[in-house]
Amino acid sequence: MGMMSFKLALVLIISGVAYCNGGTSSSYVRKTQASTDLPLSVLSSPPGYNAPEQVHITQGDHNGRGMIVSWVTPLEKSSNFVEYWKVDDDKNKQRAYSDSKEYSFCNYKSGHIHHATIKNLEYNTKYVYEVGNANTTRRFSFTTPPEVGPDVPYTFGIIGDLGQTYDSNQTLEHYNSNPKGQTVLYVGDLSYADNYPLHDNRRWDSWGRFVEKNAAYQPWIWTAGNHELDYLPDYGETVPFKPFTHRYHVPYKASNSTSPLWYSIKRASAYIIVLSSYSAYGESMRVMFEPWFVENKVDIVFSGHVHAYERSERISNIAYKVSNGNCTPVLNSSAPVYITIGDGGNIEGLANKFTEPQPSYSAYREASFGHAMLEIKNRTHAFYSWHRNQDSEAVLGDSQWFYNRQWYPHEESSTAGTVA
Ligand SMILES: [Fe+2]
Repeated sequence: MGMMSFKLALVLIISGVAYCNGGTSSSYVRKTQASTDLPLSVLSSPPGYNAPEQVHITQGDHNGRGMIVSWVTPLEKSSNFVEYWKVDDDKNKQRAYSDSKEYSFCNYKSGHIHHATIKNLEYNTKYVYEVGNANTTRRFSFTTPPEVGPDVPYTFGIIGDLGQTYDSNQTLEHYNSNPKGQTVLYVGDLSYADNYPLHDNRRWDSWGRFVEKNAAYQPWIWTAGNHELDYLPDYGETVPFKPFTHRYHVPYKASNSTSPLWYSIKRASAYIIVLSSYSAYGESMRVMFEPWFVENKVDIVFSGHVHAYERSERISNIAYKVSNGNCTPVLNSSAPVYITIGDGGNIEGLANKFTEPQPSYSAYREASFGHAMLEIKNRTHAFYSWHRNQDSEAVLGDSQWFYNRQWYPHEESSTAGTVA
């Protein structure tokens, strides 16, 4: 089944590669100062006593018939279920019960964090769901993906390093305005709460409230980044990823993974592998994984961490070992395209210092905030586009038709800067 799909890998890569002359560097110059976080007062809790907040969903099984619904009740545990029904059948309401947990971090104590997994949903069906209690309920909806298959059209949004600034808001609003997006591939670095003293975890809550306008309606496929580590041993916080793993559940057991930081799912026409660069990161991770990407014809690798946008040619560097010094990436039609999309708009601002001259592996690069869309059309073709925040959604800052490496391994051509 894996051979039938577009293969995508999500990873937050820490170290990059550097070498020789290449494609297009955008001449667009934008402000480079750090962005400002939205005030907590803007990202406040919804009205009503103990109102459920920070509602978000993600795929809850391997094939797309499950959904994990998550929410936080700030004051009391109740109620511990989500009620759901098909949009045209509200006589048949069903419930899935949640596990809820609290955690503390330094001087912070969380609300009750609920996760309920809904199973055996029908494919390609719109469901309404409701969380809360007698006093305050909140209602949302989602649409399940079509059954897994090679020719199922399906569109992903790709967002990374979002944070919760005015620029982050522009990115999220921009993505929200695109009616094609069905699921978000999120490449790590979520709230940037660790930018605050003692990693003020109220900023994890405000981030959950911030992304709810999309994440309660579309599943976000989560990848962990370095800003999820929250490791503060001097203050007794010695369990890495504690806030992240309490708040964001993923279906890692469905792919026989032993860690929520590593898992895979199938969704419509995509086979998505989520990797974490916090086990064996950097060069050792590249040495381990790059040959597997090439051998298995991974179509695209999406990464975050660097706060800019860059798309590579199909290149491989698998001949390189530290011991032989043969460090020259070469064009390889079985290799993935590597896309860095850490330009969601977080508080750290843009990374605008590129390797000069532009390396040969680099097809397009630009230091602007934005998001990307991947429209899988069928087993052979997918249309990819990158959208700058400062443009209207119809403007494509960068785009490429992708040809599936398994079914149609022909050379692609890209068209940076075209308008739809
Ligand atoms: Fe980041």
